Amino acid sequence: MCGIVGYVGTENTAPILLDGLRRLEYRGYDSAGVAIQSGGEIALARAVGKLRNLERALEANPIRGTTGIGHTRWATHGRPSEVNAHPHLSGPVAVVHNGIIENHLALRARLVERGAKVVSDTDTELVAHLIHEKLREGHGGLEDAVRRALRELHGAYALAVMSRDEPGRIIVAKASSPLVLGLADDATYCGSDIPALLPYTRRMVFLEDGDLAVLERGTARITRLDGTPVERPSKEIDWSPVMAEKAGFKHFMLKEIHEQPRAIEDTLRGRLDRERGDIHGHEIGLSEDDARSIRRVFLLACGTSHHAAMTGRYYLESIARVPTTVELASEFRGRDPVIGEGDLVIAVSQSGETLDTLVAAREAKERGAKVLAIANVIGSAIPRMSDAAFYTHAGPEIGVASTKCFTTQLANLLMFSIWLGRRRGTLGDADARALVEQLARLPILMKDVVGGTRQLVMNVAKRYRDARDVLFLGRGLNFPMALEGALKLKEVSYVHAEGYAAGEMKHGPIALIDSAVPVFVLMPKDRWYDRTLGNLQEAKAREGQVIAIATEGDESAHAVSEDVIEIPLVHEALAPFLTVLPLQLYAYYVADLKGTDVDQPRNLAKTVTVE
Ligand code: M6R
Repeated sequence: MCGIVGYVGTENTAPILLDGLRRLEYRGYDSAGVAIQSGGEIALARAVGKLRNLERALEANPIRGTTGIGHTRWATHGRPSEVNAHPHLSGPVAVVHNGIIENHLALRARLVERGAKVVSDTDTELVAHLIHEKLREGHGGLEDAVRRALRELHGAYALAVMSRDEPGRIIVAKASSPLVLGLADDATYCGSDIPALLPYTRRMVFLEDGDLAVLERGTARITRLDGTPVERPSKEIDWSPVMAEKAGFKHFMLKEIHEQPRAIEDTLRGRLDRERGDIHGHEIGLSEDDARSIRRVFLLACGTSHHAAMTGRYYLESIARVPTTVELASEFRGRDPVIGEGDLVIAVSQSGETLDTLVAAREAKERGAKVLAIANVIGSAIPRMSDAAFYTHAGPEIGVASTKCFTTQLANLLMFSIWLGRRRGTLGDADARALVEQLARLPILMKDVVGGTRQLVMNVAKRYRDARDVLFLGRGLNFPMALEGALKLKEVSYVHAEGYAAGEMKHGPIALIDSAVPVFVLMPKDRWYDRTLGNLQEAKAREGQVIAIATEGDESAHAVSEDVIEIPLVHEALAPFLTVLPLQLYAYYVADLKGTDVDQPRNLAKTVTVE
């Protein structure tokens, strides 16, 4: 979704804004622009398409100044075009906006009636006109005008606003859309996400919904919308700028696939109690009594995080024996679900900002459920509204297709299930120790699988790159991995793919199989193995091109498959961490061979803050 950056300081702002926008590219966008205070005016540059086009516009007509705002737009109201690109101007006012103003139709009618010259199709331009109108009413300066304008807006917004008449100042405000401030000695920054600001400062402030801040060089004064001052403590972010760079890999997605052993290691660090076969659960935010008395768990998530949540259900049911439901957050919200006190909601979201997950978790909390967030972005909206946050430590994930955040979510869900199982008495000492030991070995195993299967997966990708449809089959813990394999392939290569519970094949999808259809069968040695092998044979009998992801030395898999991608023998709970790796690599290589925009696939956004 849209990205915002802002800078007030002493440096020339255009390169800083462009750099920040480039670091937000992963969010998805179709046009971009900057507005800079320059020589007593506000100068504007906007361009459709990639940031390179904006850069060229700025090369042709450089703008110098030390205060500015920038934006990457992901079209919601009106097609991608220069006139619809942000910033939007009205008189002395320039505005960039992420979110959706819900009452835009009524607002447009009112503003036009009062004489505003609206030139774009966007809701954002209306915000600029409204603030300009409030300024003209002459009660105070820009801060007051923004405050009064916001009272008339309904919907979601992160806004950054400047006025030609107030040099060296940016006003920002937030409701439902993410916005973070960066503080340095001689400068203040704002951005939609941490990576935009990382090269400049690690000292960040996370605004709450309903906050308005006045940014000046090196300071940020924060108030509520009614003007009441508030303190928002700054946090030191331990992500380094290098973590958000490609480090010699062709794409972020490939780098992030390879980073998974490190991401898992960071996520496990300090949490495994190997001696006792337990998890240090201080971040989980539940008491021992809570753990014992939880009635049910609801896992809420979207997309890839939903696949992690589906795996989490297996963990919670088999290890902690707690009744667990997995819900697509978009379907849960507004459904009037039966949920309340004694229920625990786990909201799983790498960004911590996905609107559907946020709203669903909020609805559950209002009904009395406790909410635990599993998120990767510290201080993001979902952890903030939750009773506790159990963070993954994947580091910044820039590729739109989630990879390392997915496997670290699995790690947190498994750790939580072990913690709960120990407290509920459903996981004995020996089993717990075995699981914790295997978890500790996971980074090495994952490294071996990525390194050891890469070449074979690339060859398979070359062979099937032109396949029109691809099937992924798995059972039990590997059913969600089949769904994830299909989603990854769809997202980055635009190839039609379906993930199925292997047992469902004969109930319909088997009709799709012929000699042109590659079928990935996920069949590690686990309690579902024999039945999955049966499904593999059914696919083979219909001339499907079978690629098995199987345990090392599995002769049966070799006997009936075109290719076997091997993983080591592990506890069945750990297998998904390994079976998913070749699927991520396959999606990546097919996409790369097809020449798609791997890190920013068409129509997708990294952080989905709309409904
Ligand atoms: O930030 P979240 O984990 O809440 O995001 C949920 C989905 O939007 C996300 O997983 C999406 O499906 C990704 N593009 C998957 O690669």
